[in-house]
Amino acid sequence: MSRRTERAALGGAVTVRIAHVADLDALMALEHAAFAIDRAERRAIRHAIRSSSMSLLVAVATDPDAEAELLVGAATLERRRTSAVARLSSIAVAPSRAGHGLGGLLLAAAEAEARRHGLARLRLEVRADNGAGIRLYERHGYRRYGTKPDYYEDGMEAWCYEKALEPA
Ligand SMILES: CC(C)(COP(=O)(O)OP(=O)(O)OC[C@H]1O[C@@H](n2cnc3c(N)ncnc32)[C@H](O)[C@@H]1OP(=O)(O)O)[C@@H](O)C(=O)NCCC(=O)NCCS
Repeated sequence: MSRRTERAALGGAVTVRIAHVADLDALMALEHAAFAIDRAERRAIRHAIRSSSMSLLVAVATDPDAEAELLVGAATLERRRTSAVARLSSIAVAPSRAGHGLGGLLLAAAEAEARRHGLARLRLEVRADNGAGIRLYERHGYRRYGTKPDYYEDGMEAWCYEKALEPA
């Protein structure tokens, strides 16, 4: 691995943008790499890209050697016309890139996107046994306000988190 590729592998030169339909294959690969169960199906991801009430954000690293973007993370935000609360329905980082701040980068981008739409709060559910997810949210100021028993495919309960967003 060259020095430049190594730097990219450590998470350098990563930007967050809105996903396009052309990202579908890479998003499916990320979904399979990051989640063992409760994976989103291809048509659900395609719907999230096209929906006017959802924002699918992708973190992309530019590999200067390949002159191509590499999709290294994603986050999905859902809005409802009648509610000031946005929902983060998914966040994932490529396992090879975990622990370098990409989760935090995507979370901050999702919060900025919610604020851009004038929303006051962000809510999310996380598996009660997902230590990495729980640490990420608590470090970024999310407060646990409830639980949902038997929420996931395997019966695991969800912990519900919320954060008040500063106005844009
Ligand atoms: C949960 C998840 C998104 C976190 O992503 P991540 O990129 O690893 O998150 P961060 O790097 O921002 O934070 C994770 C760790 O890296 C550390 N870190 C943050 N910035 C860092 C940096 N610049 N350099 C080195 N380490 C850093 C943090 O301190 C944290 O350490 P800790 O967990 O031991 O306290 C990721 O683990 C994931 O995709 N999991 C699978 C899917 C999932 O469970 N999603 C959440 C539920 S929907």
